[in-house]
Amino acid sequence: MASRYSEVYGAWKTDPEGFWSEAAEAIDWFEKPERVFDTERGIYGHWFPGGLTNSCYNCLDRHVESGRGEQIAFIYDSPVTSSIERISYGALLDDVKALAAVYRKLGVDKGDRIIIYMPMIPQAAVAMLAAARIGAVHSVVFGGFAANELTVRIDDCRAKLVVSASCGIEPGRTVAYKPLLDAAVTIAEHKPAHCLIYQRDMLKAEMTPVRDVDYAAALSAAKDAGDEVGCTPVASNDPLYVLYTSGTTGQPKGVVRDNGGHMVALKWSMPNFFGVQPGEVFWAASDIGWVVGHSFIVYGPLLNGNTSVLFEGKPVGTPDPGTYWRIIAEHGVAVMFTAPTALRAIRKEDPDAALVSKYDISGFRALFLAGERADPDTIRWAERALGVPVIDHWWQTETGWPVAGNPLGLGLLPVKYGSPAVPLPGYDVQILDDAGHPVEAGTLGNVVVKLPLPPGCLPTLWNADHRFRAAYLDEFPGYYKTADAGYLDDDGYVFIMARTDDIINVAGHRLSTGAMEEVCASHPDVAECAVIGIADELKGQIPAGFLVINSNVSRETSEIEREVISLVRDRIGPVAAFRTAMCVKRLPKTRSGKILRATIQKIADRQPWKMPATIDDPAILDEIAAVLHAKGIGI
Ligand code: COA
Ligand code: AMP
Repeated sequence: MASRYSEVYGAWKTDPEGFWSEAAEAIDWFEKPERVFDTERGIYGHWFPGGLTNSCYNCLDRHVESGRGEQIAFIYDSPVTSSIERISYGALLDDVKALAAVYRKLGVDKGDRIIIYMPMIPQAAVAMLAAARIGAVHSVVFGGFAANELTVRIDDCRAKLVVSASCGIEPGRTVAYKPLLDAAVTIAEHKPAHCLIYQRDMLKAEMTPVRDVDYAAALSAAKDAGDEVGCTPVASNDPLYVLYTSGTTGQPKGVVRDNGGHMVALKWSMPNFFGVQPGEVFWAASDIGWVVGHSFIVYGPLLNGNTSVLFEGKPVGTPDPGTYWRIIAEHGVAVMFTAPTALRAIRKEDPDAALVSKYDISGFRALFLAGERADPDTIRWAERALGVPVIDHWWQTETGWPVAGNPLGLGLLPVKYGSPAVPLPGYDVQILDDAGHPVEAGTLGNVVVKLPLPPGCLPTLWNADHRFRAAYLDEFPGYYKTADAGYLDDDGYVFIMARTDDIINVAGHRLSTGAMEEVCASHPDVAECAVIGIADELKGQIPAGFLVINSNVSRETSEIEREVISLVRDRIGPVAAFRTAMCVKRLPKTRSGKILRATIQKIADRQPWKMPATIDDPAILDEIAAVLHAKGIGI
């Protein structure tokens, strides 16, 4: 089929308000928006001002009211607990109504914040939707973060309630959430009034009297009492959630998502971008702790009336690298989304994709990849293995939905390997040099999006509007700075090459090297340090720390390296995958004292590098290269 992309993108460009006004018709509003876009706030305006709606109503109630109650909303597939559970829209709504009543009983009202710190279990999605139902703001914290990261988030959003579980299951170990939660609350300055704990059979958590409430008991008590809560009308621009993501310091950025624009954008993207129709099975193999989980495990598929797979497992080892293909076959998945790193993990263990042939995946139509750069080799391998289009697409926590991609729903455009294809309607992607001037096609520069951003993108950072403007809007007036570097080719295809800040991408997880440096520097024996991301075949990048030890320290450097590694694990969490630290005599710097991180990275990645003209002492780079060499890294 010929792609309708140009026609649809052109329609948006000619009449953006008309385009989004039409898209907004797919959402149920208690009160229709007065306007499409609020120009009073200038180009950083709000979408759909005056509209009153509710995200939970649009995800659940309206489907049940229109006869979709028996359809499966979530298929919970958990190879790590050997269980599969199917939850209908009707049953999900019953749970959400009852949990919303529990929230109310615990004193949570519209606008209050609820932290959700849970593994990939259906109760986590119920916790999100119940918050949306009463207009409370949820903030999900990924399970791989340490207690300290949880504290930072509890304090920043001043959470009234934390919903958690007794444990998560990682291959080979049970992660006890409750001790982490208890430690986090102990160190937090702001104390949540209650913690609602879902006890799993594998590990029962000890409860703190008064503060802790048993999730299952409270839910069934609410059901027995017939307590249920209707949907609170919220303004289009009221926050639905805050999702913290790595910034350039140890203080994560609280990305705010509104209700109205978010729903309009996600609902549009399901059929038009991902090419899935209501009733079909969609699977995003991510975690609800990441934006992919918010947008494409929970909200997007439910808004569109899809069945969404909630997977508690890994691409390999649970139990084997055929798990993805089993799930596609067993649950009739039409379209799937994962990170390239997951495919690299599968390919490493099953290079010929022999396990695919064990399963009937004839109903499978497309695999979408995002979260990190999709290397052409991995895409080609997956295309051969699966016989379906493998579609790279690019976006960020901040945008909430894809900025660029090959739109399956509008008809695929020719593939250019290494490029996530073309900007989607709503996004005018441009490339600027550091002085803010447009560059020619093919020239690398700062990837920016002309304001206003489309519906669904962040309106601000939680309680940090100044930081929001400084981080995203000030450097290139009139544009949103993505902090990615890349180029556009002559056909308007986007190529994303690197970050322009200190963010690295480890196994599809976004991490800040600056935050890791703060932790390394807090070790009493460390005088100064640098953390960089080095290329890794499986994870894309992994962090490596270079430590300069105080001159009066005479201990074994290997001991200090081990301590720093465990410090990062304890403060940031296992997800940081910080396993390489090396003591060096000095760090290479410019004459003005700036650490030459990019040059160290090039040496480590065996890329050609030039001696920077501004370097203070060239001999230091030779020393660094020797240390890397001794560790088997770089030249
Ligand atoms: N809770 C607790 N710990 C977690 C966790 C969670 N939800 N997720 C990861 N961790 C831990 C892991 O157990 C591991 O701990 P370890 O150091 O004790 O082994 C550590 O964090 C690093 O995890 P990870 O980076 O996931 O590496 P891995 O070697 O365990 O697995 C992959 C590698 C590629 C299989 C895995 O990273 C993966 O499935 N990636 C897909 C990523 C993805 O879906 N990203 C979402 C964006 S689309
Ligand atoms: P996150 O906010 O965790 O979704 O991470 C967003 C960042 O991941 C982007 O700014 C990019 O640097 C990177 N990223 C995500 N998807 C892609 C992609 N398809 N190609 C290249 N980089 C990507």
